[in-house]
Amino acid sequence: MNTKWWKEVVVYQIYPRSFKDSNGDGIGDLKGIIEKLDYIQSLGIDVVWLNPVYESPNDDMGYDISDYRAIMQQFGTMDDFDVLLEGLHQRGIKLIMDLVVNHTSDEHPWFQESRKSRDNPYRGYYHWWEAEKGTPPYRWSIFDKESNAWKYDAATDSYYFHIFSEKQPDLNWENPIVRKEVYDMMKFWMDKGIDGFRLDVITCISKDTAFPVLSDEMPAGAWFPYYAKGPHLHEYLQEMNREVFAQYDCMNVGEASGVNIEEALLFVNEDRQELQTFYHFEHTGFGIHKEHFMLEDETNRDLVAWKKIFERWDQVFLEKGWGTIYLGNHDMSRMTSRYGNDSPEYRAYSAKMLHTFLLTMRATPYIYNGDELGMTNTNHTDIAAYQDLYTINYYHQLKEKGEDAQAFLHGHARISRDNGRTPMQWDDTEQAGFTTGKPWLAVNQNYTAINAAEQAHNPDSVLNYFKKLVQFRKENPLLVYGAFALVDENNPQLFAYTRTLHNQTFLAVLNFSDTNAQLHTNLSIEQSIIRMGNYAIPSQNYSFRPYEAVIYEL
Ligand code: NOJ
Repeated sequence: MNTKWWKEVVVYQIYPRSFKDSNGDGIGDLKGIIEKLDYIQSLGIDVVWLNPVYESPNDDMGYDISDYRAIMQQFGTMDDFDVLLEGLHQRGIKLIMDLVVNHTSDEHPWFQESRKSRDNPYRGYYHWWEAEKGTPPYRWSIFDKESNAWKYDAATDSYYFHIFSEKQPDLNWENPIVRKEVYDMMKFWMDKGIDGFRLDVITCISKDTAFPVLSDEMPAGAWFPYYAKGPHLHEYLQEMNREVFAQYDCMNVGEASGVNIEEALLFVNEDRQELQTFYHFEHTGFGIHKEHFMLEDETNRDLVAWKKIFERWDQVFLEKGWGTIYLGNHDMSRMTSRYGNDSPEYRAYSAKMLHTFLLTMRATPYIYNGDELGMTNTNHTDIAAYQDLYTINYYHQLKEKGEDAQAFLHGHARISRDNGRTPMQWDDTEQAGFTTGKPWLAVNQNYTAINAAEQAHNPDSVLNYFKKLVQFRKENPLLVYGAFALVDENNPQLFAYTRTLHNQTFLAVLNFSDTNAQLHTNLSIEQSIIRMGNYAIPSQNYSFRPYEAVIYEL
């Protein structure tokens, strides 16, 4: 058993813009997080992952960085950051930061210089295509208003490349000076005492810079196999490991968009000295349209297929490597709405069931802020309610093309990123106690019923159940390292599995449906000890109520 501290931790993700506003400008900030340090500690989590807090014009909410060594003014100052880091460390909590280095903001001084002239010393920091070579071969861009990753820049009669918005030009990783700049910047933060990084769209950093013409067959959105995951990706990750990670006792997790299971170990096999962990997306795409980011079939929840995804991703890391597990983050809708059931009747049951899942799998769990309360989607179908550039740009693009933008919005509403970005619901006062001003994104109106203050005092709340589960995981290394095996794997309603270490076995049974479900197994539940359950009296007879979750010790 290859034990490591970063395999044993529970990570709590904080989206600073929506966590707590300390100065009434409607935008969450570092002082707000500092005010909530005791709350964060009370969760029992070990690591905080902070979404980007660097200086940024916020075209993509901080994922467009204009200064990697300064704190975004809206969020506070470097002094605030230092206080936050110290406050976390005093409470025994580690901090990992977002590392966004596939691209910068177009307002970053490097890009400002780069676009000035063709012989500017910073020219080679980005990907340029001179207009006299003709129109560059088409590349799809996720956030561009015209879905085109090339943007013409008149100053030098050239196009620059941006997979994300036109305000997020891609850095040229083939330039060793760029790589050195990145490693120096990472060391700046590591030397400040942070504990590691989450690596944004890290599979995009290497691309085929000859930019060959791609087949017309390439579906929109399929950019990873076509022009990310380039030939030097592993070389760069090994270099980053040598230059930075190997120098510190730290943790890292890559956002591994486009990585399939066959390639998994290339990234995280410890013998290769690249990454420790990454997160994949295979389980998140269910029911989602291939081209438009919308739910096409709400009923398309094939639990049997979904379970097998988790089984495969468990097996691939049996000998080497290590996995992560998550159901929500700032790029997704709320886990309770997406994988559970946000009706008043089942919201709390299903949120607790999903937490039982996250905290009993053999992988490092990531919990997104607000999910510990079972916060839910807003599902807006009015474009004026949105702040996310993806939703806004795509909606207007469809409109301009004369397509049915409103139909898109209806399908998109339940999976839009803004669902996961609504302000934290602290209490039942105006604006959910998030701000004394007008929040940058409207508060979910269910805050009077769903909020941290109420849940702290309610022994049956999602929050208190979550805290108990975190403790339970800590007290039972079996839940971290124990072998995972599906039980009754073809059951379309129940996700059941055992976790076994030495001679101890736990059985988790999770009902993902809103009707009673029967477990078929030879394992003897009647004789077992019930360790956790989300109903007042957990089932001990193979029949499970809607969204019931039980952990037995066999
Ligand atoms: C992934 C981040 O999680 C997302 O929020 C962002 O828009 C893109 N990368 C671009 O940086």
